[in-house]
Amino acid sequence: MSQPLRIGMIGYGFMGRVHTNAYKRVNDFFPELKYRPILQAVCGRDETKVKAFAEQWGYASHETDWQQLVAREDIDAVDICVPNNLHKEIAIAVAKAGKMVLCEKPLAMDVAGGEEMCQAVEDAGVANTVWYNYRRIPAVSLAKQLVDEGKLGRIYHYRSNFLQDWTIATDVPQGGAATWRLDSAAAGSGVTGDLLAHCIDTAIWLNGSIKDVSAMTETFVKERMHAETKKVESVGIDDACAFMCHFENGSLGLFESTRYARGHKALYTLEINGANASIRWDLHDLNRLEYFDHADDSNVRGWRSIHITEGEMPYMDKWWVPGLSIGYEHSFIHQVADFLANLESGQPTSPTFREALETQAVCDAVLKSGSERAWVNL
Ligand SMILES: NC(=O)c1ccc[n+]([C@@H]2O[C@H](COP(=O)([O-])OP(=O)(O)OC[C@H]3O[C@@H](n4cnc5c(N)ncnc54)[C@H](O)[C@@H]3O)[C@@H](O)[C@H]2O)c1
Repeated sequence: MSQPLRIGMIGYGFMGRVHTNAYKRVNDFFPELKYRPILQAVCGRDETKVKAFAEQWGYASHETDWQQLVAREDIDAVDICVPNNLHKEIAIAVAKAGKMVLCEKPLAMDVAGGEEMCQAVEDAGVANTVWYNYRRIPAVSLAKQLVDEGKLGRIYHYRSNFLQDWTIATDVPQGGAATWRLDSAAAGSGVTGDLLAHCIDTAIWLNGSIKDVSAMTETFVKERMHAETKKVESVGIDDACAFMCHFENGSLGLFESTRYARGHKALYTLEINGANASIRWDLHDLNRLEYFDHADDSNVRGWRSIHITEGEMPYMDKWWVPGLSIGYEHSFIHQVADFLANLESGQPTSPTFREALETQAVCDAVLKSGSERAWVNL
């Protein structure tokens, strides 16, 4: 017997569209799932726009006040797809209303806020997850399998970048609907919370906890006009951040993120070097995992470029035939599928709020280290 799961979506921008697509597609490709997401209501502040979104994407209704949506009795799960400064208040209200909560990353503006969110969902006993979707790109999931099988042996190095170039122009404003990411009041931080948080989540998942960090942060453009007030204001976010760290397993980590790497749009890369093997992955070529195995015969030893399309590879039995690729949006469909399967079996869906709090703690430590120019312990 299938069971409806009535979704209330708050925010209908980039992630609102990506998540809605995931809810719409998931049961077609994961027909074994008992739970079936229903697009019950979407919330945005502009009535005309949110109504148009609801009609275009197939939501049964719309709201212009998120508190109204949270209070509705015909909603089972609330999905938070709004700027970072709203995550905490909404998530706590959702938990208090006894509803499940799926929250976009970063979990919170800081660890203290994230801890309150964890307490709220744990006290309420509601299912919760944070959308660190890159774990569920099949090539990254395969990397996890290889690490867990011990194929890499002792791990020495973890290296990860997330590079963009969209804020180089000095006339890009801060704040407002399109550029809230540049406004520290809405975003909390710059590339650390926005981009490095992804790298850190994947790193902790693949390589374990981080012990300490030493970071440098930079704000290249010190003042920008605010999109709403039109006043020139100082910029509070980090435009670029690089940090090194020690992992608990003894390996060394090196991370870099910037929005000033001309030519790079969303170059998320990771590389892990172990005693026996190395793996490398690149978001711009997301269906490939590069793998070097020192155990190969020396006359054919070299980097393999594994095309992740075989049915034996993570999630790929759900999609097309070998040789044909899937895309970015599928990582979100996979997260919804796992969330629904876990609801059925009574398991948490990783990363839970509590797990995402560890990433938040590393982000906070990185920002502290950057401003104090000193090592910070976790
Ligand atoms: N997992 C990922 O890879 C990923 C990618 C992009 C963004 N994100 C995260 O998703 C969240 C949203 O980012 P986005 O890119 O979708 O932003 P966006 O600017 O495209 O959309 C934000 C939405 O929030 C709405 N909104 C703002 N204030 C609101 C309020 N008070 N009440 C109701 N709606 C409100 C806006 O109208 C808009 O629809 C952020 O936390 C961001 O960090 C995650």
